Amino acid sequence: MSIERRKNKYIAKKIMVLGTKGGTGKSFVAVNLAIDLFNQSKSDVVLFDIDYKSADDATILNIIPQTTIHDLLQKTDKLDLGLLGSSLTTCSSGIRFLPAPMNSIEAEYISSKQTIEIIDMLAEISDYIVIDTPAYFSEDVLSILESIDHMIIIATMDVLSIKNLKESLFILKQLRFPRNKIILILNRANSNVGLTISEVENNIREKIDITIPSDKLVPLSINKGIPLIIEMPKSIVSQSINKITQIIIGEN
Ligand SMILES: Nc1ncnc2c1ncn2[C@@H]1O[C@H](COP(=O)(O)OP(=O)(O)OP(=O)(O)O)[C@@H](O)[C@H]1O
Ligand SMILES: [Mg+2]
Repeated sequence: MSIERRKNKYIAKKIMVLGTKGGTGKSFVAVNLAIDLFNQSKSDVVLFDIDYKSADDATILNIIPQTTIHDLLQKTDKLDLGLLGSSLTTCSSGIRFLPAPMNSIEAEYISSKQTIEIIDMLAEISDYIVIDTPAYFSEDVLSILESIDHMIIIATMDVLSIKNLKESLFILKQLRFPRNKIILILNRANSNVGLTISEVENNIREKIDITIPSDKLVPLSINKGIPLIIEMPKSIVSQSINKITQIIIGEN
């Protein structure tokens, strides 16, 4: 199938999940969104964890990675689509997964050029690539910005997160990243922390596209090792993930 697609110059949609502060929910959203996209679009979805130094997606998926990006790059000097495709881990949910290295030392060996090349190749053998990222504008993040179709930015309901969100939006504007590619998410948006959604919107001078409530089902699902979108697809949090999926699928 990958060879067919190459002939057809098939190019997948690339979705980056960004949050320029730690712990805003990037990995939870990236994993659950990838599975939801697979379920709703009935097409090939690859989850790629480029949070190389602090990777969590394998843990959230509850799998022990067989071939990480580091293993893959060690195998060959010249990567081809066949080897890349066969190195992806197929998860029970149906998505395929390219895990980050097992430790931060291995992460040092991966260049941004290699990250770009792999994303470009993944785009030839899939329909959607969901990219989980570190909690800052890493070199990898900056180097792939140009090719991103949808940028999901996640902030939480606290002043520090909102300050970082504002800065991130400013940086993206300076880099001329198109606003219409950005989907703004406020996670844990029902938290009673003395800040309202309209105060956040006034502060950043942008509308929040989707809110996700704070729900103990989220850590419960991570602790249990079953993504929430699979175990509780009707939960309010899963419904918020559905809305992100709808925006992405709807714009095809
Ligand atoms: N909507 C939510 N309700 C309750 N808990 C949540 C919610 N979203 C995320 N969390 C919790 O917040 C923590 C951080 O989530 P996650 O690891 O997805 O964030 P992250 O942005 O990827 O973090 P990092 O910057 O470390 O990569 C997890 O323990 C998760 O259970
Ligand atoms: Mg993470």
